[in-house]
Amino acid sequence: MILRFSDPESLSRAAADMFAQAAQTAVQERGRFNVALSGGGTPVRTYQLLAQAPWCDRTPWPHVHVFWGDERCVEIDDQRSNAGMAYRTLLRHVPVDPAHVHPIRCAADPEAGAAQYDELLRTHLSSPAPHLDLVILGLGRNGHTASLFPGSPAIDEKGRWAADVYVAEQAMHRVTLTPPLLNAARTVLFLVSGNEKAHVLKSVLEGPFMPRRLPAQAIHPHSGRLIWLVDAPAAARLAPSP
Ligand code: 6PG
Repeated sequence: MILRFSDPESLSRAAADMFAQAAQTAVQERGRFNVALSGGGTPVRTYQLLAQAPWCDRTPWPHVHVFWGDERCVEIDDQRSNAGMAYRTLLRHVPVDPAHVHPIRCAADPEAGAAQYDELLRTHLSSPAPHLDLVILGLGRNGHTASLFPGSPAIDEKGRWAADVYVAEQAMHRVTLTPPLLNAARTVLFLVSGNEKAHVLKSVLEGPFMPRRLPAQAIHPHSGRLIWLVDAPAAARLAPSP
């Protein structure tokens, strides 16, 4: 499903609505809400809104368990840290249980950090099935999502739920969740904003299926919902909606 918005603010409000709604449903049905957050600039406004009324009050924070879709392997107080960004914009301002917040710790050793996160995910999600309730993702200009970058072997990962990757263009190690876990999610929400994403968004959604070149195409939940929230500048090259 592709939902189009006139501007980033209305997109962010819709994302905050969906987060709060998904949290309420999950807690009513299963007693907890497992969410994986994205990094990048696009979700910042959504996280800020979630820390404010009415979204903050609509979200059952004590039952929210926070994971990340990916992390840059830097210390948490580094400006580039995805967990650091989520703490600054959201988690410090809401009554989430600190024991329910699970950053990916990979600054010292990316490979060990990925293995530990894989184990942690299996402890939290294996029973009865490994479904994250909600995964928030972004789209990079080169078609990457989470830290699944073009050409990375992690795109074809079949076993591990978390993998370490080295991104040569940024000279940075990262850890990313992998398609087997991401595609088991109940809902995947892509947030895409800005005209610099228009070209790649069209290729991902309307071009040939080439997930090794456009890793975002590797994300298609088996039985969950796939929702793209896109603003008008990002949607500018898409075929008109029916
Ligand atoms: C990261 C991300 C990454 C991001 C995209 C889009 O840590 O960099 O999780 O996959 O979502 O690069 O980033 P923007 O929202 O900044 O465009």
